[in-house]
Amino acid sequence: MRTAIVTGAAGGIGEATAQDLARWGWRVFGFDLRAGESTLLPSDLAGFGGSVEPIRVDVTDRAAVEAAVAAVLATTGGTLDAVVANAGIRVAGVFEETPFAQIRRLFEVNLGGAMNVTRAALPALRATEGSRVVVVSSVGGLSALPGLAAYCGSKWAVEGWAESLAHELHPLGVGVAIVEPASVRTGLWDLGAVHGDPDGPYASLVESVEVGDDRAWARALDPASVSATMVAVTEGRRGLRHPVGLTARARFAARGIVPAGIQRRIISRLTHQPSSVASPRNPEGVIMVTGCSSGFGLGITVELARRGRRVAATMRDLSRRGPLDAALAEAGVADRVEVLRMDVTDPASIGEAFARADRWVELAGDVGRIVGLVNNAGVVSVGPFEELPPAEAGRVIETNLLGTLAVTHAALPRMRPHGGRIVCVSSSSGLGGLPTWSAYAASKWGVEGFAESLAFEVGPHGIDVALVEPGAFSTGIWRDDSWHGDPGGPYAALTEAMADADRRAVELGGDPMVVARAVAGCFSGGLVGGRPWTRRPVGRGAWLRWAARGVVPFGIQRRIVARMLG
Ligand SMILES: NC(=O)c1ccc[n+]([C@@H]2O[C@H](COP(=O)([O-])OP(=O)(O)OC[C@H]3O[C@@H](n4cnc5c(N)ncnc54)[C@H](OP(=O)(O)O)[C@@H]3O)[C@@H](O)[C@H]2O)c1
Repeated sequence: MRTAIVTGAAGGIGEATAQDLARWGWRVFGFDLRAGESTLLPSDLAGFGGSVEPIRVDVTDRAAVEAAVAAVLATTGGTLDAVVANAGIRVAGVFEETPFAQIRRLFEVNLGGAMNVTRAALPALRATEGSRVVVVSSVGGLSALPGLAAYCGSKWAVEGWAESLAHELHPLGVGVAIVEPASVRTGLWDLGAVHGDPDGPYASLVESVEVGDDRAWARALDPASVSATMVAVTEGRRGLRHPVGLTARARFAARGIVPAGIQRRIISRLTHQPSSVASPRNPEGVIMVTGCSSGFGLGITVELARRGRRVAATMRDLSRRGPLDAALAEAGVADRVEVLRMDVTDPASIGEAFARADRWVELAGDVGRIVGLVNNAGVVSVGPFEELPPAEAGRVIETNLLGTLAVTHAALPRMRPHGGRIVCVSSSSGLGGLPTWSAYAASKWGVEGFAESLAFEVGPHGIDVALVEPGAFSTGIWRDDSWHGDPGGPYAALTEAMADADRRAVELGGDPMVVARAVAGCFSGGLVGGRPWTRRPVGRGAWLRWAARGVVPFGIQRRIVARMLG
């Protein structure tokens, strides 16, 4: 009998999928916090040959997931035909007014949960012929949506992670599929009210999200209509992405073809968002930059200061400020830059840095206020997902993705009253998955989905959001310990080929100041009606991946990558 683990199986899409798989003869282990609450009676499945066995487990608890998967494998003799990573929550409303603990929890469940169960199951999946990883994303993983900045960030992160996983698992015979349902009538919608003050600065967003939710609920799909696709992909239907429902199919078709700015205008109109206001051009004030001890951050600081801007250059370890100080002195712009300590993974340190910035306003008035933010701090850690230490994957997500969200969360109340610009340094890895890059791709796809969605809510307040997507450049990010993997393991050849390709790409990468200039350029005017482009790939590789995204089918992309890696 074929066996599957389905997470989030006590309700909604997970429950419908678990039941339908059982009706097709599968032995299903339903992982859920609320295990046992399913309305299904075992007798409902009598005669179909399958079963659903509930197991109470919190998918965010890695040790508990590992124990639960081990218990499943003990009963199946070590084989597992499928993992359906479905558990998810939704947080809707105003990003700035949503408590950060809830945003963190969202990522822990939607992304961390999928990672935990897949990682624990991979050895068994590899050992079982024709096995599948099925990941439930959302229409919010295919496009940006207003009032769902964090939710879309989490689903885009899942997409980037799963796309990378598809590259590395295909040669080992494990298929990966992503299902992207439009709105589905499930308990996901009950889990909380729309965050945001109905009388506050985002009142119209709160109202439009509430009205939009009501409309979406009225048109929402029945979970059973999604489970048909879920069963088909679990049973082996080919293809990476499977949008379900008209909206999801339309958004899927628009990816990569309709530019982000136009998509935003269409979605704004359909969802009755207030129109955005151009951000103030070259205002007096401070641009805060994260991760300035080296690489792009150092270059961005120097370039902004050279262009006459005041910069709060932050870094997590002030003992590493020497190279920045030297570069500023050489450029003769040290007087325009204040260096502050900020670790983007540490809320206290973020709070202290912004508290310092608040004092500038008291001392200097408008000249001291924050008018720009560059989310640049980042780390790289690569390796086959199964062999990448969980702590490393966590460090990448915490720094690149949650760090970006946390600093933006702190900056918004300071910027919103007068407007400004936010630039996120993403990556060409935010445009397409690659083998061994799953955690990093998740972090950068998450930043992309978050930034594009945030633009809806901050645009009416005169804040533009832009993404700069560099290809590979030789900076301090590439360290000898950035690469992970077992040289004797099942991914050894792939890991070695990818590491060689990475090193070659970095050698050919060119001058990192190109990226610094592209970021600094986002603060001076811009090209579209005085506004920066939403996306700005930098480097040949990045442009190629930008052009391929959503246009070249994944199967062809995978074959090209496999051929390039030999
Ligand atoms: N170089 C590339 O090929 C490339 C390509 C695409 C995108 N990117 C992105 O570009 C951005 C900058 O990277 P880079 O290439 O300039 O690398 P880099 O030279 O290593 O700079 C990264 C910066 O981030 C800082 N950082 C790391 N963790 C931090 C934390 N928890 N809090 C605050 N700062 C932290 C580092 O500080 P420490 O000095 O203390 O470590 C360093 O200042 C990253 O977001 C990266 O993902 C790089």
